[in-house]
Amino acid sequence: MLNVAKSIQIEHVFKVFGEHPEQALALARQGLDKSTILEKTGHSIGVYDAHFTIEAGEIFVIMGLSGSGKSTLVRMLNRLIEPSSGAIRVEGEDIHSLNERELRALRRKDISMVFQSFALMPHMSVLDNTALGLELAGVDKATRQAAAQDALEQVGLGGWAASYPDELSGGMQQRVGLARALAADPSILLMDEAFSALDPIIRTEMQSELLRLQEIRQRTIVFISHDLDEAMRIGNRIAIMKDGHVVQVGTPEEILRQPANEYVRHFIKGVDASVVFKAGDIVSGAHPVMQEQAGHGARAALRMLQDRDREFAYVVSAGHRFRGIVSTDSLRSALEGHEGPLALQHAFLPDVAPVQSDELVADLLGRAATHAYPLPVVAGDGRFQGAISRTRLLRFLDRDTPPIPPGGFDAAHAAPVSAEKGFA
Ligand SMILES: Nc1ncnc2c1ncn2[C@@H]1O[C@H](COP(=O)(O)OP(=O)(O)OP(=O)(O)O)[C@@H](O)[C@H]1O
Ligand SMILES: [Mg+2]
Repeated sequence: MLNVAKSIQIEHVFKVFGEHPEQALALARQGLDKSTILEKTGHSIGVYDAHFTIEAGEIFVIMGLSGSGKSTLVRMLNRLIEPSSGAIRVEGEDIHSLNERELRALRRKDISMVFQSFALMPHMSVLDNTALGLELAGVDKATRQAAAQDALEQVGLGGWAASYPDELSGGMQQRVGLARALAADPSILLMDEAFSALDPIIRTEMQSELLRLQEIRQRTIVFISHDLDEAMRIGNRIAIMKDGHVVQVGTPEEILRQPANEYVRHFIKGVDASVVFKAGDIVSGAHPVMQEQAGHGARAALRMLQDRDREFAYVVSAGHRFRGIVSTDSLRSALEGHEGPLALQHAFLPDVAPVQSDELVADLLGRAATHAYPLPVVAGDGRFQGAISRTRLLRFLDRDTPPIPPGGFDAAHAAPVSAEKGFA
């Protein structure tokens, strides 16, 4: 029986470490910062008024500097840490109303956790290590070994079941940790810096692995990371924490477009926005467009480009499908020695492949560098959306400003050049 992904509601959750949280909370409400409160009361604010929902089936990344409360928040989700106040619901059910037995069942069936470093038992085979959680939960041997084998297959270690941990690389051992969590087929996976100890290449591999697993079977994954590029790559949504406060929750795009405050702005400064935004996000409609009409057009097109001091124009069908690009040069040479009307298609530049609007900006850089013309962009249905020039790409890649402001790229960089539709 497959577990379906479940949502987690976090409702005004506070965690103060220490015997008498009230005084510390009162000071926190007055706006005193975490270190002052620690000095005055000896109490540490772990999490302050976290309030948001993690949707069923999403990868939700929690980010923040060391000590900002990420682990504390995540450990409250399976009650490894009890909140000082507030409620946590899994698919609507308050987990604090569970008794011991129900809590064990929740941890066994619904929520698994993967840590940054966890000890594999050196004297136990990889299979038995993977089955350990199930064994502790009292699952019979045949069942748990079958589940463990299946989990090992999922992380690409199917052939290593009989091996021992010291025969595995660090990355492979971390996969065993993931397999151990998957063996219970949980609907929720909590991953606390699970990939942080891995070297960069293996880490990227593990991220892809996780995305692949997520395609096969959607779980709710709460993933803690220090690494913003990792967060942007795998997170459907991201929460950014500072001193126990959740300062922003949003999609990678939302956070990059509209950082909630200076802290977030600082945080995202180094991020590679080109792996988050897509061609459709930065496309410009300010390039000359001409509609194809049977039998004529090239001469008028050339005149129009010359009048506007433009080098390229984008040709679309009557249904606004992208057809090709003409340039002043291509038009001139097509018209050379030609009498009478000439259809635009005879002047198309060769080998022009339009960019799909959902392609990542990162994947355009090579093409932009090798093509003289601004790259034409089409939607999924083939309709022409506009083009992306090198200048536009460079402006996007400039890391000192948010890559795309809330109103869209054109709101901040208006460059009005009227498009010419129905031109023939
Ligand atoms: N058991 C504890 N007793 C007292 N204070 C604690 C305890 N656990 C955590 N804290 C405090 O709570 C705050 C948040 O710690 P937490 O471990 O959640 O941070 P984190 O964001 O996971 O950091 P890191 O990135 O270093 O893992 C810190 O100030 C920490 O000192
Ligand atoms: Mg931590």
